[in-house]
Amino acid sequence: MKALILSGGKGTRLRPLTYTGAKQLVPVANKPILWYGIESIVAAGITDIGIIISPETGQEVQAKTGDGERFGARITYILQDQPLGLAHAVKIAQPFLGDSPFIMYLGDNLIQDDVNPFVETFKTQHLDALILLRTVSNPSAFGVAKVDEKGRVLQLIEKPKEPPSNLALVGIYLFSPTIHEAIAAINPSARGELEITDAIQELLNRKAPVEALQLKGWWLDTGKKDDLLEANRIILDTCLQISKNGEIDDNSQVIGRVKIGTGSKILNSTIRGPVVIGDNCHIENCFIGPYSSIADEVILKDADIEHSVILQKASLIGIKQRIVDSVIGQRAKLEPAPQRPIALRFMIGDDSHIELA
Ligand code: TTP
Repeated sequence: MKALILSGGKGTRLRPLTYTGAKQLVPVANKPILWYGIESIVAAGITDIGIIISPETGQEVQAKTGDGERFGARITYILQDQPLGLAHAVKIAQPFLGDSPFIMYLGDNLIQDDVNPFVETFKTQHLDALILLRTVSNPSAFGVAKVDEKGRVLQLIEKPKEPPSNLALVGIYLFSPTIHEAIAAINPSARGELEITDAIQELLNRKAPVEALQLKGWWLDTGKKDDLLEANRIILDTCLQISKNGEIDDNSQVIGRVKIGTGSKILNSTIRGPVVIGDNCHIENCFIGPYSSIADEVILKDADIEHSVILQKASLIGIKQRIVDSVIGQRAKLEPAPQRPIALRFMIGDDSHIELA
C-alpha cells in the first residue's frame, strides 16, 4: 500500500499567506498542517509516500519536509505543472503508484480519527474505493454523497445547489489501481478540473465495490482562516505536551498547558494556556491568552493576544487593543507610529483583511 498526499493547488482561500508560501506548510500548533497527514499515514504502517507539489511552492514543501527520514518514511515528490484537479494529480502520479492500492490524502485536511481502521476495512473488503463522509451544516460547499437507507453510496455530486444529504466527502480516500481506468474515462468538469468525484462516480456506474464510512471525530479543511484557527484550537486542546524550555522571569505567570521553546524569553507577562510558543521568541509586557500559537523568532511587546496564530519572525509592539481571532503572517510588523500625526499607517499585502475596532 502506498500513499499520495496532495500538496499542490492554488490556495486562493488562504490569501495573502499563500502568495508567499504553501498553505499546507501553514502551522497548526506550530507544526505544518501537511505533517499531521504524513504522521497519520505512517502510523497506519504506510511508508512509501508520494507528495504532489506545485511549481510555485514545491521547493518550499520539499525543503521543509525532506526525504521522509524524520517520519520514518520514504517520500517521492511529484510535480504537477498546473492544479488541474484531484483526479489529475492521481493521473500524473501513476508512474509512482504503479499497480499498488493507495490512500489519497489532501494535504490541507486534518482529521481526529486514526486512518488505520479505514486502511484495514479497505483491505479486508477488497474494495475499489473507500470514501469517508462527515455530516456538515453547509453541504453545498463540498462534494456530497447521496446514500441509500443502508448507507451505500448511490451518487456523488460536486458542490450541489440542492444537496441530497448533509454528508460531505472528507479529503481522504482509499483506491485500488482500478481508479486509473476510471480517471482515463472522465472529462474535465465545467471548472476545467478532472474531478475525483467524477472518477468515483464512474466506478459506481461500473458497479465496482465502493463503500463509504462516516467519520466520528472532527474533520477540518484548513483552507480558510477560520478553519485554520479552529484546527489550532482543537490541536492545542487535545495534543499539546507541556514543556518550558525558555527563560521565564519572576514577574511572569505561566498558567495551564503551555509549551515554550528553547531560547525564548518571557518577561513581565502572563501566558494562559493552552498556548504554544516556538524557539527564540521575545515576549515582554504581554498577555497571551488561550488558543494562541506563536511561531519561532516572534517578538511581542506590550500586546494582548488571544485565539490567534502568529507566524515566524512577526513582531507586534505596543498594540493598545487586544488582538483576537487573528492570523499574522511571517515577518509582518505591527508597531506604534514613530512620529506625529498619531495615525494609522499601513503597508498591507494584496488580499489582506483587517478589522479595526
Ligand atoms: P483545494 O483546497 O480544493 O484547492 P486549492 O489548493 O486550489 O485551494 P483554493 O480553493 O483555496 O484555491 O485542494 C485540496 C488539496 O489538494 C490542497 O492541499 C491542494 C491540493 N491540490 C493539488 O495538489 N492539485 C490540484 O490540482 C488541486 C485542485 C488541489
